[in-house]
Amino acid sequence: MKLSLENIKIGMNVGQDLYTENGQLITPKNSVVTPELIAKLKKFRISCVEVISDSLDDTIFDIKSTPGFITFQSECTEAKENLITSLDSILSEDPNNCNIDMIKDLSALLYEKNKKNINLIDMVYNMHEYSDTVYTHSVNVGMIASHLGHWLGLPEEEIKLLVTCGLFHDIGKLLIPKEILEKPDKLTPAENKIMQSHVSKGFELLDQFKDIDDRVKKVALLHHERCDGSGYYMHLKGDQIDKFSKIIAIADAYEAMTSERAYREPICPFTVVGYFEEEGLHKFETKYVLKFLSKILNSYLHTRVLLSNGQEAKVILINKNIRSKPLVKVDDGQFIDLSVTPEISIVKMVD
Ligand SMILES: [Fe+2]
Repeated sequence: MKLSLENIKIGMNVGQDLYTENGQLITPKNSVVTPELIAKLKKFRISCVEVISDSLDDTIFDIKSTPGFITFQSECTEAKENLITSLDSILSEDPNNCNIDMIKDLSALLYEKNKKNINLIDMVYNMHEYSDTVYTHSVNVGMIASHLGHWLGLPEEEIKLLVTCGLFHDIGKLLIPKEILEKPDKLTPAENKIMQSHVSKGFELLDQFKDIDDRVKKVALLHHERCDGSGYYMHLKGDQIDKFSKIIAIADAYEAMTSERAYREPICPFTVVGYFEEEGLHKFETKYVLKFLSKILNSYLHTRVLLSNGQEAKVILINKNIRSKPLVKVDDGQFIDLSVTPEISIVKMVD
């Protein structure tokens, strides 16, 4: 049975060989959980561990039932409510009198509450069944981007600013007609053009407020630009795009793909990683994407997945060259290296 690190108790027996993301053994199967081992697991950011069932109280790991997730979920819902109030006030109020502090407070709160949440990516993924509005998406993008900023070693001031960038990046969508924004089918070219205008609309709206940081305004305008020039609105390339817009672009694309939409189910994180590996390395800042992929996949080490052949398996080792195709262990004990087995792929995460 799998337990989150916070639920592991001293004296339990580990039910599997545990490895770092580089494939080094942390501890073998059957070893006893000690305070030293817990410290080591924290150091290597192992978020959950298989334990032998005789050695525990009969708690089955399900991140959605952990106290941490329940608190996270209610805090996100509250953040979303606050964001609705804040963004709506920006849409309706006089730029000279509008109180921008509300957004700054919300950014600071989200940053403080989640900066040490090592399960954040997994929790955001599990939140997706609850909603896919602009507001929820923006809260999630802010949190994911701040983690990416942390992984990239940015100073705290810039990491906090990334949360604000995430909260504001899609504000222009609130000015797009609802029938286009919420259309369940594919947009026509004309509708797509209107949808894409959310970046200029968002920038123009934010630009009226002198208290909003220029870097936040820029992200609203540039978060759909891509390093190879394939993005929009201005088809900028490489260094023409600022650091904050590049980071939000990755968090935005990842969040959008892994969340449920009116017209499709959420896409499995391993499939999304496959997209980033195949197409994303040129579209996004390569060194940012590589850092992002290695970190998010680390949080999926030891999780259960459904394979395209119908078997369930556990992720054992992330392949450094093809991260979307890890080594997995099927329930019958057989190991499958998905990087050399193209006919089999991961189709779904299993609770
Ligand atoms: Fe956008």
